Amino acid sequence: MNAFKKHVIDIQNEAFSLVAKVNTEEALNELEIRFLGRKSEFTALLKSLKDLSAKDRQTVGPLVNAVKQELLKAFAEAYQKIKLASVDWEKERLDVTAPGVKLPEGHLHILTQVQREIEDIFTSMGFDIVSGPEVETEFYNFNALNVPDNHPARDMQDTFWVKTKEGEEKLLLRTQTSAVQVRYMEKHTPPFQAIVIGKVFRNEATDTTHEFMFNQFEALMVGEDINVGNLKYIAQEFFSRFFKTEVKIRLRPSFFPFVEPGFEFDISCLSCGGEKGCSACRYQGWLELGGAGMVNQNVFVNAGYERNQYQGLAWGFGTERLAMMKYSIPDIRLFPAGDTRFLSQF
Ligand code: FA5
Repeated sequence: MNAFKKHVIDIQNEAFSLVAKVNTEEALNELEIRFLGRKSEFTALLKSLKDLSAKDRQTVGPLVNAVKQELLKAFAEAYQKIKLASVDWEKERLDVTAPGVKLPEGHLHILTQVQREIEDIFTSMGFDIVSGPEVETEFYNFNALNVPDNHPARDMQDTFWVKTKEGEEKLLLRTQTSAVQVRYMEKHTPPFQAIVIGKVFRNEATDTTHEFMFNQFEALMVGEDINVGNLKYIAQEFFSRFFKTEVKIRLRPSFFPFVEPGFEFDISCLSCGGEKGCSACRYQGWLELGGAGMVNQNVFVNAGYERNQYQGLAWGFGTERLAMMKYSIPDIRLFPAGDTRFLSQF
């Protein structure tokens, strides 16, 4: 047995002394094959362990395994040493004082920035931000909002219909964020105040102020004693903060089936302040912004509330139109065009 052990130790010593002298990867590779390869003396010794008696195996087995680990370690370290020796440290030197390379930086789309600004202002006034589906049922987009089948008011908003099977509920791409009103009311009990921001779709021709896909934001405030004064105050506060200048509000009578009374909503011209009129406001002194009004009681009934139990205000504005006014953008079609010459200005 001692001869066996001596043989193992001799192999180890020989390997150690040769590995220490080697300084190329190829030579090391050859040595590794010679000492640990399939046909090596050491592997033959390992294989012959099975021919020993159980008792002998118990004494030499651990030794052989320990030597194998030592050899593997010695080779790994030698490879590492050779690799490090071949590094050109001068080339690898890192100048930590060199000025950095500026990576091109992306930024949020102007509409996203405007939307976040709107959300921030309303959140600070205690409004919730809510959303609803863009593919909507006919019920929430029209019927629930007091626009029954065949009502002429449907023609005010040309609609993209989604193909559905005979007898299935009719689906459409929502034409207005007002579609979220009844959805929200069904799940919440007044008093509440919320805004909805999102995409709407209308089957109409495009020009400098019209897109077939655009964004609206809708405000909805319901309670027992909400009145037109609240509407004017909140709007004035919002627009003054959004445009960072004192803005006057004007309401003109108008018709939307889901509000009564209904208003067309104007703000004083941002360019001339509404005094004299200018080309931006077509010499009117006022800019038209959207629709508003007091929630029609029929809408409350459709949402499951009792008639005349609550009063509410609602408005709906075009987000692009607001952004166009704030940043003097001449054409709404620039928003979705993806032209970086336009987008990088904001
Ligand atoms: C509505 O959509 C109503 N839902 C607004 C409303 C809400 C009234 C709550 C009362 C109470 P209207 O169709 O006018 O109304 O659209 C509102 C605003 O969306 C317009 O004033 C305009 O700013 C914007 N808008 C309408 N059509 C387009 C379009 N094709 N492209 C870009 N903006 C548009």
